[in-house]
Amino acid sequence: MKMIKTLGLAALLAAAAQAAQANVDTDSVRRGGYLARVSDCIACHTAPQGKENAGGLAMDTPVGKVYSTNITPDKETGIGEYSYEEFARALRQGVAKQGHSLYPAMPYTSFARINDADMRDLYAYFMHGVEPVKQANRDSDIPWPLSMRWPLTLWRWVFHDDSPYQADAAKSAEWNRGAYLVQGMAHCGTCHTPRGVAFQEVALSEKKPGYLTGSQLAGWFAGNLTADKREGLGGWSAEELVEYLQTGRNRYTAAFGPMAEVVHYSSQHINAADLSAIAVYIKSLPGAGAADVAPVRTGATLFFENCATCHQANGQGHDRVVPTLAGSSAVMARDATSLIRVVLEGGVNARTHHQSWEYSMPGYAQQMSDQEVADVLSYMRQSWGNAASPVAAADVAKVRKLVSEAQPQR
Ligand code: HEC
Ligand code: HEC
Ligand code: HEC
Repeated sequence: MKMIKTLGLAALLAAAAQAAQANVDTDSVRRGGYLARVSDCIACHTAPQGKENAGGLAMDTPVGKVYSTNITPDKETGIGEYSYEEFARALRQGVAKQGHSLYPAMPYTSFARINDADMRDLYAYFMHGVEPVKQANRDSDIPWPLSMRWPLTLWRWVFHDDSPYQADAAKSAEWNRGAYLVQGMAHCGTCHTPRGVAFQEVALSEKKPGYLTGSQLAGWFAGNLTADKREGLGGWSAEELVEYLQTGRNRYTAAFGPMAEVVHYSSQHINAADLSAIAVYIKSLPGAGAADVAPVRTGATLFFENCATCHQANGQGHDRVVPTLAGSSAVMARDATSLIRVVLEGGVNARTHHQSWEYSMPGYAQQMSDQEVADVLSYMRQSWGNAASPVAAADVAKVRKLVSEAQPQR
Protein backbone atom coordinates (compact mmCIF):
# COMPACT_ATOMS: atom_id res chain seq x y z
CA MET A 1 0.00 0.00 0.00
CA LYS A 2 2.84 2.32 0.93
CA MET A 3 4.50 1.37 -2.34
CA ILE A 4 1.49 2.45 -4.37
CA LYS A 5 1.36 5.76 -2.62
CA THR A 6 5.04 6.48 -3.20
CA LEU A 7 4.78 5.61 -6.87
CA GLY A 8 1.70 7.77 -7.16
CA LEU A 9 3.57 10.73 -5.72
CA ALA A 10 6.56 10.25 -8.03
CA ALA A 11 4.23 10.13 -11.04
CA LEU A 12 2.50 13.25 -9.82
CA LEU A 13 5.78 15.13 -9.45
CA ALA A 14 6.97 14.07 -12.92
CA ALA A 15 3.65 15.13 -14.39
CA ALA A 16 3.76 18.42 -12.53
CA ALA A 17 7.19 19.11 -14.04
CA GLN A 18 5.78 18.38 -17.48
CA ALA A 19 2.81 20.61 -16.78
CA ALA A 20 5.09 23.49 -15.84
CA GLN A 21 6.79 23.17 -19.24
CA ALA A 22 3.47 23.08 -21.10
CA ASN A 23 2.40 26.28 -19.36
CA VAL A 24 -0.66 24.85 -17.67
CA ASP A 25 -2.35 26.15 -14.55
CA THR A 26 -0.56 24.04 -11.95
CA ASP A 27 -2.85 25.25 -9.16
CA SER A 28 -5.82 23.94 -11.06
CA VAL A 29 -4.03 20.61 -11.60
CA ARG A 30 -3.24 20.40 -7.88
CA ARG A 31 -6.81 21.21 -6.83
CA GLY A 32 -8.06 18.67 -9.39
CA GLY A 33 -5.77 16.03 -7.89
CA TYR A 34 -7.40 16.60 -4.51
CA LEU A 35 -10.91 16.46 -6.00
CA ALA A 36 -10.02 13.23 -7.82
CA ARG A 37 -9.17 11.79 -4.38
CA VAL A 38 -12.48 12.93 -2.93
CA SER A 39 -14.22 11.41 -5.96
CA ASP A 40 -12.24 8.17 -5.68
CA CYS A 41 -11.89 7.86 -9.46
CA ILE A 42 -8.83 5.68 -8.91
CA ALA A 43 -10.69 2.98 -6.97
CA CYS A 44 -12.92 2.09 -9.90
CA HIS A 45 -10.56 2.95 -12.73
CA THR A 46 -7.66 0.76 -11.57
CA ALA A 47 -7.56 -3.04 -11.97
CA PRO A 48 -5.96 -5.19 -9.24
CA GLN A 49 -2.18 -4.93 -9.84
CA GLY A 50 -2.98 -2.68 -12.79
CA LYS A 51 -1.67 0.79 -13.62
CA GLU A 52 -3.43 3.65 -11.84
CA ASN A 53 -6.43 5.04 -13.73
CA ALA A 54 -5.81 2.73 -16.71
CA GLY A 55 -9.13 0.92 -16.22
CA GLY A 56 -10.00 -2.77 -16.48
CA LEU A 57 -11.61 -3.30 -13.08
CA ALA A 58 -14.60 -5.64 -13.38
CA MET A 59 -17.74 -4.30 -11.77
CA ASP A 60 -20.81 -6.46 -11.17
CA THR A 61 -24.16 -5.15 -12.31
CA PRO A 62 -27.46 -7.08 -12.25
CA VAL A 63 -27.01 -7.90 -15.94
CA GLY A 64 -23.34 -8.84 -16.07
CA LYS A 65 -19.82 -7.51 -15.65
CA VAL A 66 -18.83 -4.05 -16.85
CA TYR A 67 -15.17 -2.99 -17.07
CA SER A 68 -14.04 0.46 -16.10
CA THR A 69 -12.16 2.35 -18.81
CA ASN A 70 -8.74 3.92 -19.22
CA ILE A 71 -9.02 7.53 -18.02
CA THR A 72 -5.33 8.43 -18.33
CA PRO A 73 -4.62 11.08 -20.98
CA ASP A 74 -3.32 8.57 -23.52
CA LYS A 75 -4.63 9.78 -26.86
CA GLU A 76 -5.33 6.36 -28.34
CA THR A 77 -6.67 4.22 -25.52
CA GLY A 78 -7.43 6.79 -22.81
CA ILE A 79 -9.25 10.11 -22.64
CA GLY A 80 -6.45 12.26 -24.11
CA GLU A 81 -8.72 13.40 -26.95
CA TYR A 82 -11.58 14.44 -24.64
CA SER A 83 -12.36 18.17 -24.73
CA TYR A 84 -13.47 19.81 -21.49
CA GLU A 85 -17.10 19.71 -22.67
CA GLU A 86 -16.88 16.00 -23.48
CA PHE A 87 -15.30 15.26 -20.12
CA ALA A 88 -18.01 17.20 -18.27
CA ARG A 89 -20.73 15.46 -20.30
CA ALA A 90 -19.30 12.02 -19.44
CA LEU A 91 -19.24 12.87 -15.73
CA ARG A 92 -22.59 14.62 -15.55
CA GLN A 93 -24.68 12.93 -18.20
CA GLY A 94 -23.05 9.54 -18.59
CA VAL A 95 -22.32 9.96 -22.30
CA ALA A 96 -18.87 9.02 -23.68
CA LYS A 97 -16.99 11.09 -26.26
CA GLN A 98 -18.00 8.58 -28.94
CA GLY A 99 -21.64 9.28 -28.07
CA HIS A 100 -22.66 6.02 -26.38
CA SER A 101 -24.35 5.98 -22.99
CA LEU A 102 -22.29 4.74 -20.04
CA TYR A 103 -23.51 2.09 -17.64
CA PRO A 104 -24.58 3.69 -14.38
CA ALA A 105 -21.76 1.72 -12.71
CA MET A 106 -19.98 5.01 -13.47
CA PRO A 107 -21.62 7.21 -10.79
CA TYR A 108 -22.65 10.07 -13.04
CA THR A 109 -25.94 10.26 -11.13
CA SER A 110 -23.81 11.72 -8.30
CA PHE A 111 -21.14 13.51 -10.35
CA ALA A 112 -23.92 15.56 -12.00
CA ARG A 113 -23.86 17.71 -8.83
CA ILE A 114 -20.22 18.83 -9.43
CA ASN A 115 -19.98 22.57 -10.19
CA ASP A 116 -18.09 24.05 -13.15
CA ALA A 117 -15.05 25.30 -11.25
CA ASP A 118 -14.44 21.87 -9.71
CA MET A 119 -15.12 20.13 -13.02
CA ARG A 120 -12.47 22.29 -14.72
CA ASP A 121 -9.94 21.43 -12.02
CA LEU A 122 -10.69 17.71 -12.41
CA TYR A 123 -10.20 18.03 -16.16
CA ALA A 124 -6.90 19.88 -15.71
CA TYR A 125 -5.71 17.10 -13.43
CA PHE A 126 -6.66 14.27 -15.78
CA MET A 127 -5.04 16.02 -18.74
CA HIS A 128 -1.86 17.23 -17.04
CA GLY A 129 -1.48 15.56 -13.64
CA VAL A 130 -1.88 11.92 -14.69
CA GLU A 131 0.64 9.99 -16.76
CA PRO A 132 -0.70 8.55 -20.01
CA VAL A 133 -0.86 4.75 -20.04
CA LYS A 134 -1.45 2.80 -23.23
CA GLN A 135 -3.98 0.12 -22.35
CA ALA A 136 -6.98 -0.81 -24.47
CA ASN A 137 -10.43 -0.98 -22.91
CA ARG A 138 -12.24 -4.25 -22.45
CA ASP A 139 -15.78 -5.00 -23.61
CA SER A 140 -18.46 -5.86 -21.06
CA ASP A 141 -19.44 -9.49 -20.45
CA ILE A 142 -23.11 -8.60 -20.65
CA PRO A 143 -24.90 -10.95 -23.06
CA TRP A 144 -26.93 -9.73 -26.00
CA PRO A 145 -29.49 -8.12 -26.04
CA LEU A 146 -28.86 -6.53 -22.66
CA SER A 147 -25.45 -5.44 -23.92
CA MET A 148 -27.03 -3.07 -26.42
CA ARG A 149 -26.26 0.34 -25.08
CA TRP A 150 -29.34 2.08 -26.37
CA PRO A 151 -31.56 0.98 -23.46
CA LEU A 152 -29.15 3.00 -21.32
CA THR A 153 -30.30 6.11 -23.12
CA LEU A 154 -33.84 5.30 -22.01
CA TRP A 155 -32.57 4.63 -18.53
CA ARG A 156 -31.05 8.09 -18.45
CA TRP A 157 -34.31 9.65 -19.61
CA VAL A 158 -36.33 7.88 -16.96
CA PHE A 159 -34.00 8.06 -13.99
CA HIS A 160 -31.26 10.60 -14.47
CA ASP A 161 -31.47 14.04 -12.94
CA ASP A 162 -28.50 16.07 -14.19
CA SER A 163 -29.25 19.29 -12.33
CA PRO A 164 -26.30 20.81 -10.44
CA TYR A 165 -26.24 20.99 -6.64
CA GLN A 166 -28.80 23.50 -5.33
CA ALA A 167 -27.68 25.17 -2.12
CA ASP A 168 -30.22 25.20 0.70
CA ALA A 169 -30.30 28.79 1.93
CA ALA A 170 -31.86 27.75 5.25
CA LYS A 171 -28.75 25.74 6.12
CA SER A 172 -25.20 26.78 7.08
CA ALA A 173 -22.36 27.06 4.57
CA GLU A 174 -20.69 24.08 6.24
CA TRP A 175 -23.82 21.93 5.90
CA ASN A 176 -24.08 22.89 2.23
CA ARG A 177 -20.44 22.06 1.60
CA GLY A 178 -21.00 18.66 3.22
CA ALA A 179 -24.17 18.01 1.21
CA TYR A 180 -22.37 19.03 -2.00
CA LEU A 181 -19.53 16.58 -1.32
CA VAL A 182 -21.62 13.66 -0.05
CA GLN A 183 -24.24 13.84 -2.82
CA GLY A 184 -21.72 14.65 -5.54
CA MET A 185 -18.04 13.87 -5.65
CA ALA A 186 -17.81 11.54 -2.65
CA HIS A 187 -20.87 9.64 -3.99
CA CYS A 188 -21.56 7.93 -0.64
CA GLY A 189 -25.03 7.07 -1.95
CA THR A 190 -23.66 4.91 -4.77
CA CYS A 191 -23.04 2.26 -2.12
CA HIS A 192 -25.18 3.35 0.84
CA THR A 193 -28.52 4.12 -0.86
CA PRO A 194 -30.81 1.21 -1.74
CA ARG A 195 -31.41 0.54 -5.43
CA GLY A 196 -34.79 0.28 -7.09
CA VAL A 197 -35.96 -2.24 -9.65
CA ALA A 198 -33.94 -0.76 -12.50
CA PHE A 199 -30.70 -0.41 -10.49
CA GLN A 200 -31.43 3.27 -9.86
CA GLU A 201 -30.68 4.76 -6.43
CA VAL A 202 -34.06 5.38 -4.77
CA ALA A 203 -32.94 8.85 -3.63
CA LEU A 204 -30.07 11.18 -4.52
CA SER A 205 -30.41 13.54 -1.57
CA GLU A 206 -32.08 13.87 1.83
CA LYS A 207 -35.11 15.35 0.07
CA LYS A 208 -36.41 11.88 -0.84
CA PRO A 209 -36.98 8.94 1.51
CA GLY A 210 -34.43 6.17 1.49
CA TYR A 211 -31.30 8.29 1.04
CA LEU A 212 -28.25 6.61 2.66
CA THR A 213 -30.41 4.05 4.48
CA GLY A 214 -28.14 1.16 3.51
CA SER A 215 -27.76 -1.13 0.51
CA GLN A 216 -26.40 -4.45 -0.56
CA LEU A 217 -23.54 -4.46 -3.03
CA ALA A 218 -21.82 -7.48 -4.52
CA GLY A 219 -21.77 -9.52 -1.33
CA TRP A 220 -21.40 -6.66 1.17
CA PHE A 221 -23.86 -4.49 3.00
CA ALA A 222 -23.09 -0.77 3.15
CA GLY A 223 -24.92 0.26 6.31
CA ASN A 224 -27.47 2.88 7.22
CA LEU A 225 -25.78 6.29 7.66
CA THR A 226 -28.85 8.13 8.98
CA ALA A 227 -29.40 8.83 12.67
CA ASP A 228 -31.44 5.64 13.09
CA LYS A 229 -30.59 4.49 16.64
CA ARG A 230 -30.68 0.76 15.98
CA GLU A 231 -28.94 0.27 12.65
CA GLY A 232 -27.78 3.79 11.80
CA LEU A 233 -25.18 6.22 13.15
CA GLY A 234 -27.50 7.61 15.86
CA GLY A 235 -24.90 6.97 18.55
CA TRP A 236 -21.91 8.48 16.71
CA SER A 237 -20.76 12.06 17.25
CA ALA A 238 -19.58 14.15 14.29
CA GLU A 239 -15.99 13.83 15.62
CA GLU A 240 -16.29 10.05 15.72
CA LEU A 241 -17.46 10.01 12.11
CA VAL A 242 -14.52 12.21 11.07
CA GLU A 243 -12.13 9.88 12.93
CA TYR A 244 -13.60 6.88 11.11
CA LEU A 245 -13.26 8.47 7.65
CA GLN A 246 -9.74 9.66 8.42
CA THR A 247 -8.28 6.55 10.05
CA GLY A 248 -10.67 3.76 9.09
CA ARG A 249 -11.61 3.13 12.71
CA ASN A 250 -13.15 4.56 15.84
CA ARG A 251 -14.41 3.20 19.14
CA TYR A 252 -17.34 1.41 17.47
CA THR A 253 -15.91 -0.26 14.41
CA ALA A 254 -13.16 -0.59 11.80
CA ALA A 255 -13.74 -0.26 8.07
CA PHE A 256 -13.48 -3.45 6.03
CA GLY A 257 -14.13 -4.59 2.47
CA PRO A 258 -15.09 -1.85 0.01
CA MET A 259 -15.23 0.76 2.80
CA ALA A 260 -11.59 0.04 3.70
CA GLU A 261 -10.76 0.92 0.08
CA VAL A 262 -12.80 4.10 0.30
CA VAL A 263 -10.77 5.12 3.36
CA HIS A 264 -7.46 4.07 1.80
CA TYR A 265 -7.86 5.74 -1.61
CA SER A 266 -10.18 8.56 -0.75
CA SER A 267 -11.42 9.66 2.67
CA GLN A 268 -8.05 9.61 4.50
CA HIS A 269 -6.90 12.25 1.97
CA ILE A 270 -9.90 14.55 2.51
CA ASN A 271 -8.88 17.67 4.43
CA ALA A 272 -10.14 18.39 7.94
CA ALA A 273 -12.55 21.16 6.90
CA ASP A 274 -14.21 18.99 4.26
CA LEU A 275 -14.41 15.96 6.56
CA SER A 276 -16.04 18.08 9.21
CA ALA A 277 -18.56 19.40 6.65
CA ILE A 278 -19.33 15.83 5.56
CA ALA A 279 -19.94 14.85 9.19
CA VAL A 280 -22.17 17.89 9.83
CA TYR A 281 -24.31 16.98 6.84
CA ILE A 282 -24.56 13.27 7.63
CA LYS A 283 -25.32 13.92 11.29
CA SER A 284 -28.24 16.12 10.18
CA LEU A 285 -30.04 13.22 8.46
CA PRO A 286 -33.00 12.13 10.56
CA GLY A 287 -33.13 8.44 11.42
CA ALA A 288 -34.82 6.28 8.80
CA GLY A 289 -34.81 2.49 8.60
CA ALA A 290 -35.05 0.49 5.41
CA ALA A 291 -38.61 -0.52 6.35
CA ASP A 292 -39.71 3.09 5.85
CA VAL A 293 -38.91 2.79 2.17
CA ALA A 294 -41.26 0.47 0.29
CA PRO A 295 -40.01 0.29 -3.30
CA VAL A 296 -42.82 0.83 -5.78
CA ARG A 297 -42.81 -1.97 -8.29
CA THR A 298 -45.31 -0.61 -10.72
CA GLY A 299 -46.07 -2.33 -14.00
CA ALA A 300 -44.19 0.40 -15.88
CA THR A 301 -40.98 -0.06 -13.91
CA LEU A 302 -41.26 -3.83 -14.16
CA PHE A 303 -41.65 -3.50 -17.91
CA PHE A 304 -38.75 -1.14 -18.17
CA GLU A 305 -36.52 -3.37 -16.09
CA ASN A 306 -37.33 -6.71 -17.69
CA CYS A 307 -38.83 -6.25 -21.08
CA ALA A 308 -37.87 -2.93 -22.65
CA THR A 309 -34.41 -4.11 -23.71
CA CYS A 310 -36.07 -6.34 -26.29
CA HIS A 311 -39.56 -4.96 -26.80
CA GLN A 312 -38.44 -1.30 -26.51
CA ALA A 313 -39.90 1.20 -24.08
CA ASN A 314 -42.53 2.16 -26.65
CA GLY A 315 -43.54 -1.48 -27.17
CA GLN A 316 -42.45 -1.46 -30.82
CA GLY A 317 -40.05 -4.41 -30.58
CA HIS A 318 -37.71 -5.08 -33.50
CA ASP A 319 -39.14 -5.87 -36.88
CA ARG A 320 -39.49 -9.65 -37.34
CA VAL A 321 -37.16 -10.35 -34.43
CA VAL A 322 -38.99 -9.24 -31.33
CA PRO A 323 -42.76 -8.85 -31.74
CA THR A 324 -44.34 -5.47 -31.26
CA LEU A 325 -46.66 -5.22 -28.27
CA ALA A 326 -48.22 -1.93 -29.33
CA GLY A 327 -51.49 -2.34 -31.20
CA SER A 328 -51.05 -6.13 -31.03
CA SER A 329 -54.19 -8.24 -31.08
CA ALA A 330 -52.33 -10.95 -29.17
CA VAL A 331 -51.63 -8.48 -26.37
CA MET A 332 -55.21 -7.19 -26.29
CA ALA A 333 -56.81 -10.66 -26.44
CA ARG A 334 -60.01 -10.90 -24.40
CA ASP A 335 -58.52 -13.80 -22.46
CA ALA A 336 -55.00 -13.17 -21.18
CA THR A 337 -54.06 -16.82 -20.58
CA SER A 338 -51.53 -17.03 -23.43
CA LEU A 339 -49.91 -13.77 -22.44
CA ILE A 340 -49.53 -14.90 -18.86
CA ARG A 341 -48.06 -18.15 -20.09
CA VAL A 342 -45.51 -16.51 -22.38
CA VAL A 343 -44.29 -14.29 -19.54
CA LEU A 344 -44.03 -17.21 -17.12
CA GLU A 345 -42.42 -19.67 -19.54
CA GLY A 346 -40.81 -17.52 -22.19
CA GLY A 347 -40.80 -18.69 -25.77
CA VAL A 348 -38.86 -19.27 -28.95
CA ASN A 349 -39.88 -17.97 -32.38
CA ALA A 350 -41.24 -20.67 -34.64
CA ARG A 351 -38.26 -21.93 -36.61
CA THR A 352 -39.15 -22.35 -40.29
CA HIS A 353 -37.35 -22.93 -43.55
CA HIS A 354 -37.79 -19.21 -44.20
CA GLN A 355 -35.74 -18.26 -41.21
CA SER A 356 -33.32 -20.62 -39.61
CA TRP A 357 -32.26 -18.85 -36.46
CA GLU A 358 -34.15 -18.59 -33.22
CA TYR A 359 -34.86 -15.60 -31.05
CA SER A 360 -36.01 -16.47 -27.63
CA MET A 361 -37.67 -14.77 -24.75
CA PRO A 362 -36.72 -15.80 -21.20
CA GLY A 363 -39.38 -17.01 -18.74
CA TYR A 364 -40.09 -14.98 -15.61
CA ALA A 365 -41.78 -17.64 -13.44
CA GLN A 366 -38.87 -17.63 -10.96
CA GLN A 367 -38.34 -13.87 -10.70
CA MET A 368 -41.85 -12.48 -10.73
CA SER A 369 -44.70 -12.93 -8.28
CA ASP A 370 -48.27 -13.37 -9.53
CA GLN A 371 -48.94 -9.73 -8.69
CA GLU A 372 -45.90 -8.56 -10.67
CA VAL A 373 -46.84 -10.57 -13.77
CA ALA A 374 -50.36 -9.14 -13.50
CA ASP A 375 -48.98 -5.60 -13.13
CA VAL A 376 -46.62 -5.79 -16.09
CA LEU A 377 -49.33 -7.30 -18.31
CA SER A 378 -51.92 -4.75 -17.21
CA TYR A 379 -49.41 -2.03 -18.05
CA MET A 380 -48.84 -3.55 -21.52
CA ARG A 381 -52.56 -3.88 -22.17
CA GLN A 382 -53.16 -0.22 -21.37
CA SER A 383 -50.13 1.54 -22.87
CA TRP A 384 -49.05 2.78 -26.29
CA GLY A 385 -52.66 3.07 -27.44
CA ASN A 386 -53.59 -0.45 -26.29
CA ALA A 387 -56.92 -0.77 -24.52
CA ALA A 388 -57.81 -4.07 -22.84
CA SER A 389 -58.92 -5.15 -19.39
CA PRO A 390 -56.29 -5.42 -16.64
CA VAL A 391 -54.99 -8.83 -15.55
CA ALA A 392 -55.59 -10.04 -11.98
CA ALA A 393 -53.03 -11.82 -9.82
CA ALA A 394 -55.55 -14.63 -9.32
CA ASP A 395 -55.54 -15.33 -13.10
CA VAL A 396 -51.76 -15.55 -13.05
CA ALA A 397 -51.91 -17.96 -10.12
CA LYS A 398 -54.23 -20.25 -12.13
CA VAL A 399 -51.96 -20.34 -15.18
CA ARG A 400 -48.88 -20.81 -13.00
CA LYS A 401 -50.49 -23.88 -11.47
CA LEU A 402 -51.32 -25.33 -14.91
CA VAL A 403 -47.83 -24.66 -16.19
CA SER A 404 -46.16 -26.30 -13.21
CA GLU A 405 -48.36 -29.41 -13.65
CA ALA A 406 -47.84 -29.60 -17.42
CA GLN A 407 -45.17 -31.86 -18.89
CA PRO A 408 -42.06 -30.07 -20.01
CA GLN A 409 -42.36 -29.49 -23.76
CA ARG A 410 -38.77 -30.17 -24.78
C1 HEC B 1 -18.01 3.55 -8.79
C2 HEC B 1 -17.02 3.37 -9.86
C3 HEC B 1 -16.53 4.57 -10.63
C4 HEC B 1 -16.06 5.76 -10.14
C5 HEC B 1 -15.94 6.19 -8.67
C6 HEC B 1 -15.65 6.54 -11.27
N1 HEC B 1 -15.89 5.84 -12.43
FE1 HEC B 1 -15.61 6.58 -14.33
N2 HEC B 1 -16.39 4.85 -15.09
C7 HEC B 1 -16.72 3.73 -14.36
C8 HEC B 1 -17.11 2.67 -15.27
C9 HEC B 1 -17.55 1.26 -14.87
C10 HEC B 1 -17.01 3.21 -16.58
C11 HEC B 1 -17.31 2.49 -17.89
C12 HEC B 1 -18.79 2.56 -18.13
C13 HEC B 1 -19.19 1.99 -19.46
O1 HEC B 1 -18.34 1.44 -20.17
O2 HEC B 1 -20.37 2.13 -19.81
C14 HEC B 1 -16.55 4.58 -16.43
C15 HEC B 1 -16.35 5.46 -17.50
C16 HEC B 1 -15.78 6.73 -17.39
C17 HEC B 1 -15.52 7.64 -18.50
C18 HEC B 1 -15.83 7.37 -19.97
C19 HEC B 1 -14.51 6.87 -20.47
C20 HEC B 1 -14.29 6.50 -21.88
O3 HEC B 1 -13.49 5.60 -22.05
O4 HEC B 1 -14.81 7.10 -22.82
C21 HEC B 1 -14.89 8.74 -17.97
C22 HEC B 1 -14.40 9.97 -18.71
C23 HEC B 1 -14.79 8.53 -16.54
N3 HEC B 1 -15.35 7.30 -16.22
C24 HEC B 1 -14.17 9.40 -15.67
C25 HEC B 1 -14.20 9.28 -14.29
C26 HEC B 1 -13.67 10.27 -13.39
C27 HEC B 1 -12.94 11.53 -13.81
C28 HEC B 1 -13.95 9.84 -12.12
C29 HEC B 1 -13.72 10.56 -10.81
C30 HEC B 1 -14.19 11.95 -10.80
C31 HEC B 1 -14.64 8.56 -12.25
N4 HEC B 1 -14.76 8.25 -13.58
C32 HEC B 1 -15.08 7.80 -11.17
C33 HEC B 1 -16.74 3.63 -12.98
C34 HEC B 1 -16.41 4.63 -12.09
C1 HEC C 1 -17.63 1.64 -2.73
C2 HEC C 1 -18.78 1.63 -1.86
C3 HEC C 1 -18.82 2.63 -0.71
C4 HEC C 1 -18.72 4.00 -0.78
C5 HEC C 1 -18.51 4.87 -2.02
C6 HEC C 1 -18.88 4.47 0.57
N1 HEC C 1 -19.06 3.42 1.42
FE1 HEC C 1 -19.25 3.54 3.45
N2 HEC C 1 -19.35 1.50 3.58
C7 HEC C 1 -19.35 0.64 2.50
C8 HEC C 1 -19.48 -0.72 3.00
C9 HEC C 1 -19.54 -1.98 2.13
C10 HEC C 1 -19.56 -0.64 4.40
C11 HEC C 1 -19.71 -1.83 5.36
C12 HEC C 1 -18.35 -2.35 5.76
C13 HEC C 1 -17.81 -1.60 6.93
O1 HEC C 1 -18.56 -1.34 7.89
O2 HEC C 1 -16.61 -1.28 6.90
C14 HEC C 1 -19.46 0.78 4.74
C15 HEC C 1 -19.47 1.28 6.03
C16 HEC C 1 -19.50 2.62 6.35
C17 HEC C 1 -19.59 3.14 7.70
C18 HEC C 1 -19.66 2.30 8.97
C19 HEC C 1 -21.10 2.07 9.32
C20 HEC C 1 -21.29 1.27 10.59
O3 HEC C 1 -22.44 1.21 11.02
O4 HEC C 1 -20.32 0.69 11.09
C21 HEC C 1 -19.62 4.51 7.61
C22 HEC C 1 -19.74 5.49 8.74
C23 HEC C 1 -19.54 4.83 6.20
N3 HEC C 1 -19.44 3.68 5.47
C24 HEC C 1 -19.55 6.12 5.71
C25 HEC C 1 -19.39 6.45 4.37
C26 HEC C 1 -19.35 7.81 3.85
C27 HEC C 1 -19.53 9.06 4.69
C28 HEC C 1 -19.15 7.71 2.52
C29 HEC C 1 -18.95 8.86 1.51
C30 HEC C 1 -17.88 9.76 1.86
C31 HEC C 1 -19.07 6.30 2.19
N4 HEC C 1 -19.22 5.56 3.34
C32 HEC C 1 -18.85 5.82 0.91
C33 HEC C 1 -19.22 0.98 1.17
C34 HEC C 1 -19.04 2.28 0.69
C1 HEC D 1 -34.50 -11.38 -24.66
C2 HEC D 1 -35.50 -10.59 -25.34
C3 HEC D 1 -36.89 -10.51 -24.68
C4 HEC D 1 -37.21 -10.09 -23.42
C5 HEC D 1 -36.24 -9.61 -22.32
C6 HEC D 1 -38.66 -10.16 -23.32
N1 HEC D 1 -39.17 -10.62 -24.48
FE1 HEC D 1 -41.16 -10.90 -24.86
N2 HEC D 1 -40.65 -11.76 -26.63
C7 HEC D 1 -39.39 -11.86 -27.15
C8 HEC D 1 -39.44 -12.70 -28.37
C9 HEC D 1 -38.25 -13.08 -29.25
C10 HEC D 1 -40.80 -13.07 -28.52
C11 HEC D 1 -41.36 -13.97 -29.56
C12 HEC D 1 -41.39 -15.35 -28.90
C13 HEC D 1 -42.30 -16.34 -29.54
O1 HEC D 1 -42.70 -16.13 -30.66
O2 HEC D 1 -42.60 -17.32 -28.85
C14 HEC D 1 -41.52 -12.44 -27.42
C15 HEC D 1 -42.90 -12.53 -27.25
C16 HEC D 1 -43.64 -11.86 -26.29
C17 HEC D 1 -45.08 -11.81 -26.22
C18 HEC D 1 -46.03 -12.44 -27.21
C19 HEC D 1 -46.35 -11.39 -28.26
C20 HEC D 1 -46.74 -11.93 -29.59
O3 HEC D 1 -47.42 -11.20 -30.31
O4 HEC D 1 -46.32 -13.05 -29.92
C21 HEC D 1 -45.42 -11.08 -25.12
C22 HEC D 1 -46.81 -10.74 -24.62
C23 HEC D 1 -44.19 -10.69 -24.50
N3 HEC D 1 -43.12 -11.17 -25.24
C24 HEC D 1 -44.09 -9.95 -23.35
C25 HEC D 1 -42.90 -9.73 -22.66
C26 HEC D 1 -42.84 -9.20 -21.33
C27 HEC D 1 -44.03 -8.74 -20.50
C28 HEC D 1 -41.53 -9.19 -21.00
C29 HEC D 1 -40.92 -8.75 -19.67
C30 HEC D 1 -41.50 -9.36 -18.48
C31 HEC D 1 -40.77 -9.70 -22.13
N4 HEC D 1 -41.64 -10.03 -23.11
C32 HEC D 1 -39.39 -9.80 -22.18
C33 HEC D 1 -38.24 -11.33 -26.64
C34 HEC D 1 -38.13 -10.85 -25.33
